[in-house]
Amino acid sequence: MTALIDLPARVLSRGPDATMALAEELVSVLRPGDVLVLSGGIGAGKTVFAKGVARALGIGADAVTSPTFPLHNIYEGTLTLNHFDFYRLRSEQEARDLGVDELADGQALTLIEWGDRFPAVVRPPYLHVDLELGETDDERWVSVRRV
Ligand SMILES: Nc1ncnc2c1ncn2[C@@H]1O[C@H](COP(=O)(O)OP(=O)(O)OP(=O)(O)O)[C@@H](O)[C@H]1O
Ligand SMILES: [Mg+2]
Repeated sequence: MTALIDLPARVLSRGPDATMALAEELVSVLRPGDVLVLSGGIGAGKTVFAKGVARALGIGADAVTSPTFPLHNIYEGTLTLNHFDFYRLRSEQEARDLGVDELADGQALTLIEWGDRFPAVVRPPYLHVDLELGETDDERWVSVRRV
C-alpha cells in the first residue's frame, strides 16, 4: 500500500489476482475525476487491472472487458467508471472525438487502455500505469507514475 502511495512505484505482480489487488490499493488513494492511462503490450494485463479498479468501486469485475465496440464503456459503482481503449483507433482525432476530457472532468474515474498511443489527447494530471511482462508467465512489473 505505502509503496503505491509513494509514487513513482514499481511493483512485481505474481499473478492476475495480485494485479487486481494492486489496482484496488491504487483506487483507495484516488479521487473522483482522476484519470488512469494504462500501457503495456497485448496481454500485459491492462484489462485485468481495470477489473481490479472496477471491483474496488463495487462493480462486478466480470462485467469488465476491453472496450472494443463501443469504444467507451460506463460502469456505475461507488463512483462512475469510464473505461476507454485506444487500441483500435486510427488517429488522434478519433481519440479526441471520444471526449475523454469532458468525461474526465467530473465525479467519475476514467481509465484508458492503450492511453499512451495518443498522449496528447489526455490532459495531465493523470496516473500512468505501465505493465510489462516479467520472467515467468504470471509475472508482471507494474509501474505507476504521475504525469
Ligand atoms: N500478473 C499478472 N497480471 C495480470 N494478468 C496476468 C498476470 N499473469 C498472467 N496474466 C494473464 O495475462 C492476461 C492479461 O490479459 P488482459 O486482457 O488483461 O491484457 P490487456 O493488457 O488488456 O491486453 P489487450 O491490449 O489485448 O486488451 C490474462 O490472461 C491474465 O490471466
Ligand atoms: Mg485489454
